[in-house]
Amino acid sequence: MNLTVAITGASGMVFGREMLRALEADERVSRVHFVASENSLRVMAEELGVSGRNDLLEKLLGAAPVKTVQHTNADIGAAIASGSYPLNGMIVLPCSMGTLAAIANGLANSLITRAADVTLKERRPLILCVRETPFNRIHLRNMTLAAEAGAVIFPCIPSFYNRPIDSTEMARQFVCRVLAHIGLPQPGAYVWGRD
Ligand SMILES: Cc1cc2nc3c(=O)[nH]c(=O)nc-3n(C[C@H](O)[C@H](O)[C@H](O)COP(=O)(O)O)c2cc1C
Repeated sequence: MNLTVAITGASGMVFGREMLRALEADERVSRVHFVASENSLRVMAEELGVSGRNDLLEKLLGAAPVKTVQHTNADIGAAIASGSYPLNGMIVLPCSMGTLAAIANGLANSLITRAADVTLKERRPLILCVRETPFNRIHLRNMTLAAEAGAVIFPCIPSFYNRPIDSTEMARQFVCRVLAHIGLPQPGAYVWGRD
């Protein structure tokens, strides 16, 4: 699989980090295109203690990336900005209300929002892991708009029935759910009712 992962400035950076780690480790994935919004960097510094743009992927993965490549959000000429480039889907994790609004309303004015726009027009899977609480009516409307255009609204709501021992485990299991949804079931995923 050839996937795009975008991290935007909502709370929940641990989810994005675990997603990148899972995809790097997954042999079925050949390439991951990674884009971090400008504002996500601020939240990453708050939540993960990761600061600065230099070696961002290495800091998030804990090792040099093998298959993940980073693009700047201003680079609207990157391959993932074109529908002619073969991709299997895009995951925005976490997805801020600002990015949700831009995607839902077709504002393809950054690489993240353009790549999402392209994913929708090419009828490829677009997973928006939205995060905010509580939601106002604008958020709710934008989620409906995006869902009507073909996106899957996959809110950052972890499960508790698997009794996660910490936030990393909670995030890992959430990532397993997202990846199972796009056809990449993960080893170590908790599955309710499995013997
Ligand atoms: C620590 C921190 C936490 C935030 N959490 C959220 C959040 O959970 N959801 C959200 O929509 N915005 C959140 N924001 C606000 C967004 O970062 C802000 O709206 C930003 O403009 C989003 O830009 P982007 O979508 O381009 O990343 C947070 C900001 C900070 C500094």
